[in-house]
Amino acid sequence: MIIIANWKAYVEDFEKAKKLFAISKKIARTTTSTIVLAPPAPFVGAFAPKKSGVAFAAQDVSVTTGGAHTGEMTAAAYAAVGTKYAIIGHSERRAAGDTDAIVGEKIAHALACTLLPILCIGERERDSEGRYLAYLREELTVALSALTPKERAKVIVAYEPLWAIGKTATSAITPNDLAEMVLYIRKVLAELLSGKSSAHALVLYGGSVEPDNIRMLAANSNVDGFLIGHASVDPITFSLLVKQLHVQK
Ligand code: PGA
Repeated sequence: MIIIANWKAYVEDFEKAKKLFAISKKIARTTTSTIVLAPPAPFVGAFAPKKSGVAFAAQDVSVTTGGAHTGEMTAAAYAAVGTKYAIIGHSERRAAGDTDAIVGEKIAHALACTLLPILCIGERERDSEGRYLAYLREELTVALSALTPKERAKVIVAYEPLWAIGKTATSAITPNDLAEMVLYIRKVLAELLSGKSSAHALVLYGGSVEPDNIRMLAANSNVDGFLIGHASVDPITFSLLVKQLHVQK
């Protein structure tokens, strides 16, 4: 399993960031899951170069490459400090203006700098006619369209329905619905990737994953990991959450 802690802008205090990093290192030593931290950029710079057993993700990368672009955080700069992954197309970035085409460009920049893109897709709401399925297919297709087969094989997909983000475990997706969605996303990926690589494609889920629901979601859905927001910025909740994954039935 891959567990990605998306700190968003919740963590602004360096002491708190250091505490979360320390706890994450401990957790990483006791779990078979891969622990990935996605802190605000200054903290990535402070922690990612250290040898820690924890991997790092950018929360986003710039659509530009290097040059006269004040304030931009390029994929190359993230890669230079040892960042391994880049979250791209998060709904909070899309709300700030990222279109599917921009998301595609950002993925290409990330890959060019050897960052593994975590492409976020997700519908705003569900409708009974299944239009949300076509919407997800479109998000995936446009984001991958400009990539070579080899590049497409490196993209990790995170399914994050907007209606489930930032709530509580009771408002998250049900294990059955998640299993259906993972199946659907794998089916679309099978059309977009070459035969062999689609079998290895990683599909994650994000949206109100908490200690109360992570085990059920993991057990019944064929999902490869989770993108965790609010529950990842409290040290006790985060360690409980990772522990839950390994509790025996
Ligand atoms: P949440 O956020 O866990 O707070 O719902 C998940 C995300 O937006 O990545």
